[in-house]
Amino acid sequence: MSSPEKSKDDKKEDKIPGESSPRTSGSSDSTAGMSMEHLRRYLAEKLGFYDDDDAVTEDETEKVKVLDEVTVDGIINYIKNKNCKNIITMAGAGISTSAGIPDFRSPGTGLYHNLKKYNLPNPQAIFELDFFQDNPRPFFELAKELYPGSFKPTVCHYFIKMLVDKGYLLRHYTQNIDTLERVAGIPDDKLVEAHGTFHTGHCLQCRKEYTQEWMKERIFKDDIPICESCPGVVKPDIVFFGENLPNKFHKSLLVDFGKCDLLIILGSSLAVQPFASLVDRVPSNIPRLLINREKAGHRTGIMAMLGVGGGLDFDSKDNTRDVLWLGECDEGCQLLADKLGWGDELKELCKKEHDRIDKVKDDETDETTASKKEVDASKVPKL
Ligand code: OAD
Ligand code: ZN
Repeated sequence: MSSPEKSKDDKKEDKIPGESSPRTSGSSDSTAGMSMEHLRRYLAEKLGFYDDDDAVTEDETEKVKVLDEVTVDGIINYIKNKNCKNIITMAGAGISTSAGIPDFRSPGTGLYHNLKKYNLPNPQAIFELDFFQDNPRPFFELAKELYPGSFKPTVCHYFIKMLVDKGYLLRHYTQNIDTLERVAGIPDDKLVEAHGTFHTGHCLQCRKEYTQEWMKERIFKDDIPICESCPGVVKPDIVFFGENLPNKFHKSLLVDFGKCDLLIILGSSLAVQPFASLVDRVPSNIPRLLINREKAGHRTGIMAMLGVGGGLDFDSKDNTRDVLWLGECDEGCQLLADKLGWGDELKELCKKEHDRIDKVKDDETDETTASKKEVDASKVPKL
């Protein structure tokens, strides 16, 4: 099983369990006299890329014009013409920033740039198992600050919910632990929380399970949650660096990606493996749309020049399927909805759901105030 890796500098080391082995043989020993296409294939084989048996080969890709234009309009035409029913969405922290939750790596605002007060050896140590076992306090302080339940899902979350409701979504893969997908109503069977969830927690020593409520009570009192059966610390079931990704992630990806008819990636730097390499698991004739503030997950350097290697391929002249839409996730999703004729419906859904969430919060506040008043009244000395 793989655990999240911090960079994708060496993708060959970051193989996802179940992935077939790199193909290593069958090519000639010399590159002399090769055409560019042969050189590509030679390198692809030597480096172990494009080893998916289900995938269309590079030669075939060149023949297939996947999108009529490599733009959002091309994607919309494709969705309509192909009658997509197996869209996969992949998300990162960028889909929740408009809800008020910081992402990790954005300069200035990202979480990893704002952890000085915790005196960590490095920013990611806050999510490293070894560090947590020595000193869990920084993580729990941060968890209190970012605790799920205090935020409302975004336009982007509700767009994904609409894909579910309209029968377009095969699965939503998220790296986020803020649970906003669940709050937006994306059902469990459509959701893969690749980096785990705050929903449950486990004692690191005896593995006893605890509920979110049990952990929350302690975290909000600034206590470290300690197991009731042993002296172990109880950690929410979010995946730390050094831990395995959930079984559901490994199982689902094997079933899903071969069937995918469109991949939409939203709000991620695609900097963490094995999640980032999921983009390579869709067949090579399947369009991939990235909606993000910055270009991410794309091939660079010699790999881009040669058109080999994993990653998104926005810039090569042969690209007929990878579309980059730079901007805010919410705006990108609203644009897609508008172009699909669902624009007003999406706006109404967001408003209705936000009103509902506000009302639940107001009712909770009223209840708390009422019960406080009752307690206070009981304290008044009877004359
Ligand atoms: P990052 O912070 O690495 O990337 C967020 C991406 O979203 C960046 O490319 C931003 O430019 C972009 N972005 C931010 N707000 C946006 C918005 N409103 N609209 C469009 N784009 C926006 O976050 P992730 O990719 O999710 O792992 O990070 C992946 C993993 O790294 C996390 O799951 C976490 C972290 O270490 C673990 O803790 C295991
Ligand atoms: Zn225990």
